[in-house]
Amino acid sequence: EADLYTLYKGVYVPNAVHTPESLKYYEEFTFRPDDIVIVTYPKSGTTWMQEILPLILSGGDPASVETLPNWDRVPWLEETRAPTLKLEERPSPRLFTTHFHYNMMPPSFFQVKPKVVYVMRNPKDVFTSSFHYYNISSFLVKPGPQSEFLQKFLTGKVIFGSWFDHVKGWLNAKEELQIMYISYEEMIKQDLNDSVSRIAQFLGKSLEPDVLKKIADKCLFKNMKNNPMSNYSVVPQEFMDQTKSQFLRKGVAGDWRNLLTPEEAQHFDAVFKEKMKDVNYKFNWD
Ligand code: PPS
Repeated sequence: EADLYTLYKGVYVPNAVHTPESLKYYEEFTFRPDDIVIVTYPKSGTTWMQEILPLILSGGDPASVETLPNWDRVPWLEETRAPTLKLEERPSPRLFTTHFHYNMMPPSFFQVKPKVVYVMRNPKDVFTSSFHYYNISSFLVKPGPQSEFLQKFLTGKVIFGSWFDHVKGWLNAKEELQIMYISYEEMIKQDLNDSVSRIAQFLGKSLEPDVLKKIADKCLFKNMKNNPMSNYSVVPQEFMDQTKSQFLRKGVAGDWRNLLTPEEAQHFDAVFKEKMKDVNYKFNWD
């Protein structure tokens, strides 16, 4: 961990994409009221939202997701690229991403209260997706045997800390903030049209049914996989070896069943129950 990660406010961040400068930039970032921030624990549907939101705001213009890679299109505010992107000069509404916990948001966030789309996913699938991702990414600590990685995941000794703390923190956010909660599972299981339509409504953008349909279609897994500006194919192989497992890997709900043993799944559920016992929210996954 020591070489690859820095412990920042109690959570590990990968040094490859976070520097003291970028973290300082993040801390001092000034939001505008019409900014929109995608917030996720990693592997919960970030890239998917980075596709959906630009398409909604542009009224379905494919160029909105075909000219810039997702990390420049909807940049992470905490990452090294952010300070170089001249975000102050971007026209409103600006789109950003962050993997940070609620209590790590910069002061301006709580003053300005930009809109937040918070995506969450079944943590057993987040674990499964992470396990494959850590295996192909040279800037992350190798996951090691599955049982060890499970222990690390459940105790938050992975990048961006504990899934449980992340979700709890954001679910307990102050009422006056404008947060839309959406799950990966509802986007998978229901017609994607419904989710796109709800998100558009939250963003105050009214779109014709045919435009909604066009956006939903463009954001289907099989179509995003073919978008070189969204499938991480421009990342060098030594950084991320997609010959082993792709970034847009399976795109399904419930793949944990192919990885976790019944005992591991049971243990996971027990930890979930304990950690989330005081959370008053109906999660829609199994
Ligand atoms: S990251 O590294 O935090 O930005 O990763 P993130 O984008 O949050 O999560 C990656 C997983 O999301 C899946 N994905 C999708 N699923 C369904 N439909 C679409 N359009 C889609 N786009 C991304 C991606 O495949 C990863 O999940 P797994 O389970 O590994 O396939």
